[in-house]
Amino acid sequence: MENKQIAITQFGGPEVLTIQSSPVPSPQKGEVLVKVAFAGINPLDAKTRAGLGWVASQKKDNLPWVAGYDISGEILTCGEQAERFSVGDKVAGFVGFPLQGGGYSQYICVPETELSLVPEATTLEAAAAIPLASQTAVQALDKAGVHEGQRVLILAGAGGVGHLAIQIAIAAKAEVFTTCSAANLDYMATLGAHAINYEFSPVSERVEEADVLIDLVGGDAALDALHCLSDGAKVVTVPTITADLICEKAKMLGFDATGMLVSPDPEQLDALLYMVSVGLLKTEIQHIYPMSEVDKAHQQIETGHTRGKILLDMQC
Ligand SMILES: NC(=O)c1ccc[n+]([C@@H]2O[C@H](COP(=O)([O-])OP(=O)(O)OC[C@H]3O[C@@H](n4cnc5c(N)ncnc54)[C@H](OP(=O)(O)O)[C@@H]3O)[C@@H](O)[C@H]2O)c1
Repeated sequence: MENKQIAITQFGGPEVLTIQSSPVPSPQKGEVLVKVAFAGINPLDAKTRAGLGWVASQKKDNLPWVAGYDISGEILTCGEQAERFSVGDKVAGFVGFPLQGGGYSQYICVPETELSLVPEATTLEAAAAIPLASQTAVQALDKAGVHEGQRVLILAGAGGVGHLAIQIAIAAKAEVFTTCSAANLDYMATLGAHAINYEFSPVSERVEEADVLIDLVGGDAALDALHCLSDGAKVVTVPTITADLICEKAKMLGFDATGMLVSPDPEQLDALLYMVSVGLLKTEIQHIYPMSEVDKAHQQIETGHTRGKILLDMQC
């Protein structure tokens, strides 16, 4: 059996993503072999492929590199002392973060501690869509201490992280305001958020007295959104590139501000997969690309206008 993986041997545009074959690996102690059904795509995958950011700087002398942190699939073999799962179990995980990656593989060996069981009522598509994005959403909302009755402004509510963050904030009984383009206004309303079209006017002209800002855009949009906040508001800015700038300006205005780096937490993923299984969390999947069209998938994520998530089907 061969294992096709999507690797980069050099940094560059989507065309540097190439399919390589290697033998299917054998699980080591504490690991399981997963046949990957779907791999989720995140902006970090494309940023690293392009040679930008911290992961790329760490990997530059150590290519090829296989991207991908979000996987769902089925357990094929359990290694020695790997006893949490059985052969045939459906699992999902936020794996190899941040340096190893490896999710864009048909077969991958993963420490069993990095995986969660996928409930029967959750599809493998949904399970691959949520690991990194939903944990970013939960961890950002937790950092901000979001609670019942608060007014929470989430920039980029239609994106991978945003569409989940809106639903989780609403489940915590917050009132949610969000920004999106005209094309996503109706979609945002279906999730229960007050949607503001950023193409029409700056959000600072439309929202006031917000207790929390979850910034998923960074840069000028985030700086403008600081003018929507009440005294003592909390700011969590998620894009790392502009985090220092946003935090500095937010603190000058008297707000409590922080950046963040998501951290994989399988127990948190268990809870999120359960929320999906009972319909408390709805995943939006814009498109599923066959692995041979990974270049198109990266072009899409790089538009910055993906609605919800995009996935790779790793078995076709
Ligand atoms: N620090 C961390 O640990 C961490 C973790 C995860 C993600 N991130 C970063 O967080 C950001 C969001 O991630 P993501 O996965 O949600 O990205 P994404 O899925 O690519 O976000 C796409 C969404 O952004 C919206 N958007 C684009 N420009 C906008 C603007 N000016 N105002 C409002 N919405 C806008 C688009 O909506 P429209 O089409 O309606 O414009 C689209 O739905 C990325 O920069 C990512 O790298 C950081």
